Amino acid sequence: MKITITGTPGTGKTTVANILSKKLNLPLFNISELVKKEKLYIEFDSERNAFVVDPEKLREFFHNKKHFIAEGLVAHYIPSDILIILRVNPKKIPERLAERNYTEEKVRENEEAEKFAVIATEAIEKSKAKRILHIDTTKRKPEDVVNLILEGIGGKEVFEEVDWLE
Ligand SMILES: Nc1ncnc2c1ncn2[C@@H]1O[C@H](COP(=O)(O)OP(=O)(O)O)[C@@H](O)[C@H]1O
Ligand SMILES: [Mg+2]
Repeated sequence: MKITITGTPGTGKTTVANILSKKLNLPLFNISELVKKEKLYIEFDSERNAFVVDPEKLREFFHNKKHFIAEGLVAHYIPSDILIILRVNPKKIPERLAERNYTEEKVRENEEAEKFAVIATEAIEKSKAKRILHIDTTKRKPEDVVNLILEGIGGKEVFEEVDWLE
């Protein structure tokens, strides 16, 4: 099974993917680590201090893989059986990102991105996944998010409504 997990930084992708990969015994790929290690980028953006992912190279890397979990901001570039989009109330983003040495500006950028559903919208528009799960993690423990994902994988429709602009 091919599973991709996307969402704004701080939504819990890495945490949830780790638990899920153990439960399902699937190899796990963190996309930002993978992009560096396998040089799946176009260039280094010094202004943003980040590699610019090459979608073609990323797809090529996963081309022959039939069983995996890939998690990261651009996970929706990778064709999968199931795409999981994690959401969180933007008010929670600062505490979710507290352990990182992000600047205040970068934290605020991510808060805004989540508020306006930047990643979720792009993921839904561009995804070639057979199914999409959309999950609000705000009031759930990582284990509970994983349990909901397992229900989704089992066939239950999981597409939660969120509106952070209300
Ligand atoms: N459902 C959750 N509830 C509360 N805290 C969470 C939840 N999921 C993740 N966290 C915490 O939020 C922080 C960011 O999680 P992480 O998995 O690194 O997010 P991402 O990979 O999407 O950037 C971590 O400190 C993690 O322990
Ligand atoms: Mg992460």
